[in-house]
Amino acid sequence: MNTSAFVALALTRPSLVGALAPSSRRLARAMAEQVGDPDALIELGAGTGAVTAALRDAVPERPLLAVELQPDLAAGLKRRFPDVDVACAPAHEVLADHDAPDDTVLVSSLPFRSLPEPLRGITQRALIGFLESHPARRLVQYTYQPRAPFELPADTRLRWSLREVIWGNLPPAGVWVLGPG
Ligand SMILES: C[S@@+](CC[C@H](N)C(=O)[O-])C[C@H]1O[C@@H](n2cnc3c(N)ncnc32)[C@H](O)[C@@H]1O
Repeated sequence: MNTSAFVALALTRPSLVGALAPSSRRLARAMAEQVGDPDALIELGAGTGAVTAALRDAVPERPLLAVELQPDLAAGLKRRFPDVDVACAPAHEVLADHDAPDDTVLVSSLPFRSLPEPLRGITQRALIGFLESHPARRLVQYTYQPRAPFELPADTRLRWSLREVIWGNLPPAGVWVLGPG
């Protein structure tokens, strides 16, 4: 899917897409720089594949599962990245079913500030459960808001940390990591 098709989808499903353009290369690289060298990667809300491409460049030898809800976008990812596993499904279902290695990093473009309820709450709980099940697990997430991507429940030991702000992205985006505090 090209940029104009992404924009069309963003206009028809704004709360699910949460952006008017795919992630910039600079933002995608900044996300990939936070990944380190885990045993496996799961990308949530892979969209047109801007972050997928940066992850492939940064850690080419690690298994990568790209998760995307919209069938057209998922089909585009399969065509563009034949060596990447693509799941066309809601993120929370994949996280609940997936038999991931302990040291798995999640990389997410999910638009938590605009996702409708109950999808937002279900997705956040699945994500927190996935991270809490092993101390090596982390989430790399960007947001256009001047605050953390979403509020954490009081009973978790996970903590957000802001790693970088990409002022050249339109709009500027903060790259955050969620992991054990
Ligand atoms: C900000 S956009 C994608 C940005 C992506 N990095 C790019 O450059 O194209 C967010 C994506 O998350 C997907 N999405 C939204 N909710 C989802 C969910 N619950 N599970 C999986 N994907 C979801 C949307 O379809 C959309 O493609």
